[in-house]
Amino acid sequence: MIRKSLALICLLLAGFSAPAQQVPAQGDTNPPTGEKLAPYYPTPELIVDKMLEFGQLKAGEKMYDLGSGDGRIVIMAAQKYHADATGIELDGDLFISSEAKIRKLGLQKSARIVHGDILKQNYSSANLITVYLLPESNIKARPMLEAQLKKGTRIVAHDFGIGGWTPVKTMTIPDDGEGRSHTLYLYIR
Ligand SMILES: C[S@@+](CC[C@H](N)C(=O)[O-])C[C@H]1O[C@@H](n2cnc3c(N)ncnc32)[C@H](O)[C@@H]1O
Repeated sequence: MIRKSLALICLLLAGFSAPAQQVPAQGDTNPPTGEKLAPYYPTPELIVDKMLEFGQLKAGEKMYDLGSGDGRIVIMAAQKYHADATGIELDGDLFISSEAKIRKLGLQKSARIVHGDILKQNYSSANLITVYLLPESNIKARPMLEAQLKKGTRIVAHDFGIGGWTPVKTMTIPDDGEGRSHTLYLYIR
């Protein structure tokens, strides 16, 4: 419990102190612009699997990870769940390394990363959205999701719920193997 709280405090502090910025990749002459909605803080692999299972991801469905980090959620969605998976990542270095990982695994047909801003994409074809952002960032993304998502789209939020929405289910994983507990929120539009 204490370790979870510490992790969340680190994530919150890093996020609150981060100014709006763009993070270009090396040699990128035209990097995307956007507000940094959360620092990079990866979801443990065990929790990634729980998120996709909790979101009832099925083969052939379209999923999007909002702020995809090193691409781990997108990669597991494509590799284990046989979904069509897209990550959105603002950070240039994370974009490059996650795309390289997808290529190395030969998953290019079913997985990809968009180097761009979460708030400037179109999610109208999504069956599942995964999100691990700060609480106020979830609130910023909410109107866009409300406007774009088709009826029945599932959204799984990790550790921070989406303010103003009521989850249909929540799930707590008491120990991720490293002593941290995690909470998942499932929403259906
Ligand atoms: C807490 S990490 C989660 C990474 C991954 N989804 C996971 O769960 O392992 C949040 C990610 O969102 C990215 N991010 C923050 N603001 C963004 C924005 N406006 N557009 C795209 N990505 C963004 C960060 O660079 C970081 O990689």
